[in-house]
Amino acid sequence: MTIFRQLFDSESSSYTYLLGDQASRKAIIIDPVIEKLNDYLQLCVQLDIELVYAVDTHTHADHITALGKLRSSTGCVTMMGEQSMADCLTEKFADQQIISVGNIELKAIYTPGHTDDSYSFYVKQSGQGKLFTGDTLLIRGTGRTDFQNGNARDQYHSIFSRILKYPDDTLIYPAHDYKGWTVSSVLEERKFNPRLAIDSESKYVELMGSLQLDNPKLMDVAVPANRACGDVNE
Ligand SMILES: [Fe+2]
Repeated sequence: MTIFRQLFDSESSSYTYLLGDQASRKAIIIDPVIEKLNDYLQLCVQLDIELVYAVDTHTHADHITALGKLRSSTGCVTMMGEQSMADCLTEKFADQQIISVGNIELKAIYTPGHTDDSYSFYVKQSGQGKLFTGDTLLIRGTGRTDFQNGNARDQYHSIFSRILKYPDDTLIYPAHDYKGWTVSSVLEERKFNPRLAIDSESKYVELMGSLQLDNPKLMDVAVPANRACGDVNE
């Protein structure tokens, strides 16, 4: 039996994912939000699971990560990709690295573009492939590429050459959704994502360059805080 929970922070419209397995009673959490720390700790107690890893897909600019607090509360290992500027992590992962917990094998896939430290994760649970795409591929959208060393050209290749190469029925779980969508699939995004309705890298770069977006409200606070794993007062 597998454990899979999609948790939501309404302040930042962020999704957090908890993956575990019944046999080992061990779990991984992806993209936890600091304000929800107590909810995560309580859920782990209620499900009788031990949190072994807490990972972030990238350095978030719109909320503060719970990585540091989860490590001090549970002793879990905190990880981000090797390109991350955070110096507070237990370990860093690299492209194609497998993070194993019980019978879960979470594969890190380097998908730069939204930021230069953006990763997606792939896991197969009960025969179902799932991709956690961070802010690289959203449901009917893509993450902005205009700050934190973002690069639309890199994102184009991350999406088309890495994410969309998975089988059509692979489920897509993003780090955010602002409209209430919870899950999509590789096929659905390839067919219906308006940002992907372009036929070349240069058209994608042009499209992303034409977006006029305000900076996230919390950006000046969140980015430095997240480089300290959210341990802002310590
Ligand atoms: Fe982001």
